[in-house]
Amino acid sequence: INEEALEPRAPVVTIMGHVDHGKTTLLDYLRKTNVTAGEAGGITQHIGAYQARLNDKLITFLDTPGHAAFTEMRARGANVTDITVLVVAADDGVQPQTIEAINHAKAAGTPVIVAVNKIDKEGANPEQVMNELMAYDLVPEEYGGDTIFVQISAKFGQNVDQLLEMILLEADVLELKADPTQPARGSVIEARLDKGRGPVSTVLIQQGTLHVGDPIVVGNTYGRVRTMTNEKGQDIDAAKPATPVQITGLNEVPLAGDRFIVMADEKTARAAGEERAKR
Ligand code: GTP
Ligand code: NA
Ligand code: MG
Repeated sequence: INEEALEPRAPVVTIMGHVDHGKTTLLDYLRKTNVTAGEAGGITQHIGAYQARLNDKLITFLDTPGHAAFTEMRARGANVTDITVLVVAADDGVQPQTIEAINHAKAAGTPVIVAVNKIDKEGANPEQVMNELMAYDLVPEEYGGDTIFVQISAKFGQNVDQLLEMILLEADVLELKADPTQPARGSVIEARLDKGRGPVSTVLIQQGTLHVGDPIVVGNTYGRVRTMTNEKGQDIDAAKPATPVQITGLNEVPLAGDRFIVMADEKTARAAGEERAKR
C-alpha cells in the first residue's frame, strides 16, 4: 500500500432488518430526497446501489435484497460493507430476521447503527426496542453502551438526516481510505443479462479508479469496460473508490460477490479469466 496515495472514501452501508420494518421505505426516501436535491436531469436507475449526500459527503448504500445478497456475497469472500444499519420497527420490536441481521453484522465485523423506525405510529415503543436489543449487545450510549440509536420515521423522513449524520460519524471513526491511483479492483453487487447490451453488472469499486476501456477480470469471466453508468443513468468515464457503477462489456454474467480486477491488457485479462473458469 502506498500510504501517500490514500484518500478518504465514502462509507458503504447495508440496510438490514425484519420483513416490513421499513428497509425499502428508508431507501426510497433517501433516493427521493437525493434526486430532488439537484444534479440536473438525472433519472434514478435501479442499479442495486446508490449514493446519498449530506453536506457534500457521500454515503454509498447497497440496495440489494438484504440478507440473501449479503450472505451470498460473504460466501464468495466479498466484504464490501463498512457499516450495517439495522432497521427495527418501533411497533413490532425485535423479530427473527432482526436477530439474523445482527448475526450477519457480527460475522462480517461491521459496526451496527440502529434505526428505530415507524416512530410516527401509534403504539410505537422505541424504549422497548432499546431494551430488547441490549440482549444482543447493542447497548445505547445513554445506557452506557456504544451503539448509536436513531429514532426515525422512514415514511415521513423524520430524523433521516440525523441517521446520515450518525453514519458519517461512524465512518470517521473507521477512517476509511482507498488509493485511487491503483488499477481498479472491487466486487460485483448484482448482474444480469440484458437482451441488447449483453451482461450488465453493477460493481462497487473498492480500490483504484475504473475507466471505460479497462481490461478486466471478473470472477470467472473477463472483458473490457465498454460503458459505465452511474445510478443517475449518466454515462461516466471514470469512477473512484466506494462508487457503484453499472458496466457493460463482459463476456458472461458474473455472480454477486465476484471480485474484479483491472489487468494490464485484454490478453492478460482473457487468460486470467479462462484460467479461473477452469478451477
Ligand atoms: P421487506 O422488503 O418485505 O422485508 O420489507 P421492508 O423492510 O422493505 O419494509 P417496507 O419498506 O416495504 O415497509 C413495510 C410497510 O411499512 C409499508 O407499508 C410502509 O409504508 C410502512 N412503513 C415503513 N416505514 C414506515 C414509517 O416510518 N412509518 C409508518 N407509519 N409506516 C412505515
Ligand atoms: Na415489505
Ligand atoms: Mg423491502
